[in-house]
Amino acid sequence: MSVTSERLAGAGTFEEFAVEVRDLARRRNAVILAHNYQLPWIQDVADFVGDSLQLSQRAAQAEASTIVFCGVHFMAETAKILSPARTVLLPDLGAGCSLASSITAGQLRAWKAEYPRAVVVAYVNTSAEVKAETDICCTSSNAVEVVRQIPEDREILFLPDMFLGAYVERMTGRSLHVWMGECHVHAGIGPAEIRAALEANPGSEFMVHPECGCSTQCMYLAAAGDAPPLKILSTGGMIREAQASSASSFVVATETGILHQLRKRAPGKRFVPLKESAVCEYMKTITPEKLLRSLREGVFEVTVDPEIAARARRSIERMLEIVP
Ligand code: 13P
Ligand code: SF4
Repeated sequence: MSVTSERLAGAGTFEEFAVEVRDLARRRNAVILAHNYQLPWIQDVADFVGDSLQLSQRAAQAEASTIVFCGVHFMAETAKILSPARTVLLPDLGAGCSLASSITAGQLRAWKAEYPRAVVVAYVNTSAEVKAETDICCTSSNAVEVVRQIPEDREILFLPDMFLGAYVERMTGRSLHVWMGECHVHAGIGPAEIRAALEANPGSEFMVHPECGCSTQCMYLAAAGDAPPLKILSTGGMIREAQASSASSFVVATETGILHQLRKRAPGKRFVPLKESAVCEYMKTITPEKLLRSLREGVFEVTVDPEIAARARRSIERMLEIVP
């Protein structure tokens, strides 16, 4: 655990906060799962920190009776779908996702009606209702493998992220029908930002999330080989890459919360954000005070209609069968 002298109103020092969280979690028989974009105090007190795929795998295997999910709403819903017998708490129900909000179940049904034979692949950044309308889910770490499993003669509807869709098209060589959604944080990391960062950081390795607005340009640069080492990775993939790479300096193109986890897991290496202001306000709604309240009062429970959950579960489980 990292030690800091900082004090937060309502949570005290980090050590006081951590002691109280651990005690409350034990009494509630709760496991705390946190996404890589969470605030440092939340990451440091969680039982497990990871990317979307790792968090859904952990939720599916959880032994505790309660999962406190420090992330955004669609992630907590996914945990509930995979662990229906467990209570799933989200410390702030306002933790949404602009990408997940870019498509509704009604819009997806209308799109499917245009392509009745198509296989529907949905990024996990979607609501439970949307997942219930899809054939298979994917995350940023397995989208390419998921699409590769689909027979060549089938059309594919890919949703909701246009940049991830373009990345998957490029990697698989397949043409997809891609929903034109985007994450407002990653879409703001565009070609101009990557150009400036390449010039300013010669000799650094670049790690770029596939949701970024610059990911298409990065793929061309990487393929042309005229850029520094440049990898397109999920947040979990960035941590593995930082640990395995011989590089000592990295430019990181994603939400800046990942920097804390990178610095902890690959100490001694240098990590700079490609864009300092790439901060997801939804992820940051989960504060230490709200986590304490969630554990003390058992709020806020995330529920999913059982019929929708059953259909959404099939789609998530198909993904987990491909990448167990
Ligand atoms: P990862 O699965 O790579 O952690 O991405 C989740 C996300 O919300 C990206 O914005
Ligand atoms: Fe959603 Fe973007 Fe925030 Fe990730 S960073 S949770 S995709 S709004």
